Amino acid sequence: MSGKNKTLGEFIIENQAAFKYSSGELSKLINAIRLAAKVVNHEVNKAGLVDILGTSGDTNVQGEDQQKLDVLANEKFIQTLTNREIVCGLASEEEDSFISVNSLDKNHQNKYVVLFDPLDGSSNIDVNVSVGTIFSVYRRVTPIGSPVELRDFLQPGRRQVAAGYIIYGTSTMLVYTTGHGVNGFTLNPAIGTFYLSHPNMKYPEDGRIYSINEGNYTHFPEGVKKYIKYCQEEEGDRPYTSRYIGSLVSDFHRNMIKGGIFIYPKSSKAANGKLRLLYECNPMAFLAEQAGGKASDGFNSIMDIEPEALHQRVPFFCGSKNMVSKAEEFMQAYSKN
Ligand code: AHG
Ligand code: MN
Ligand code: MN
Repeated sequence: MSGKNKTLGEFIIENQAAFKYSSGELSKLINAIRLAAKVVNHEVNKAGLVDILGTSGDTNVQGEDQQKLDVLANEKFIQTLTNREIVCGLASEEEDSFISVNSLDKNHQNKYVVLFDPLDGSSNIDVNVSVGTIFSVYRRVTPIGSPVELRDFLQPGRRQVAAGYIIYGTSTMLVYTTGHGVNGFTLNPAIGTFYLSHPNMKYPEDGRIYSINEGNYTHFPEGVKKYIKYCQEEEGDRPYTSRYIGSLVSDFHRNMIKGGIFIYPKSSKAANGKLRLLYECNPMAFLAEQAGGKASDGFNSIMDIEPEALHQRVPFFCGSKNMVSKAEEFMQAYSKN
């Protein structure tokens, strides 16, 4: 299963049998995501040359001006996933409603829905800070042979069959799980191949990094305020270090490697926080739990939440198991306030 320098393609084939719905479908799905990742990576790397609000001065094959990156990333993922005969529906942060996919008019025989955040942390593009793409995969729950319905997308995170992210950072990595652990692949841009660089990634049970936008401190619930002060106290291995990049994928990735907790809580400005359950919190929660970490809304596991709307937001506490449990203790203790 592990063995560094293995390519992503070799890894998928070797582990295909472990994917309970194998018959090659996982390969097609991850290969489609791999291709889209390379295309978006190419565009993100040009971002320095792109006036994000305007055009790059380049034109595409239809003579159209190049688009804003998160719209472009959205288009690339929709195109790439639609062209594969495996997806019956898509949902994106950039699309108001879900998209029914009936590629090659196959009478809706495809089995999987993919929900994604095509470009996470897009506010960081114009300051050259790493950004990412997040994806979440389910099997449809409505009968094969009919168009997908909203309930195919409103499934609890516990039912994901695969999830992952691409981080367009100092190097480009694809990190994903199919429920058998978390593996990280680094792109060799010279040859366009992803190599297994981080086999069997594990969230350290403890950590000394806390990631939260303290600019919102006065708007936080009392339990969050008390936890932040706990992180800052001189006691034992504290004070912790504060690190906040502003891209969920980047903060999550660093914390998974070094240990840490990421918190985007509700506040008096955002009743349910900012992050979206279906294509940000659930996939990251699946990865966190598969790596031995934890993900909750401060009280209950993220992946047990029954979704009610495609773009619904939830408070998000995610990372090293013992740190999330400690934060939950503060949320419980001060939940009356
Ligand atoms: P997106 O760019 O997809 O909207 O996501 C941005 C999210 C997430 O990546 C990050 O953790 C968070 O917004 C940062 O929000 P604040 O700037 O409010 O701290
Ligand atoms: Mn996002
Ligand atoms: Mn986004």
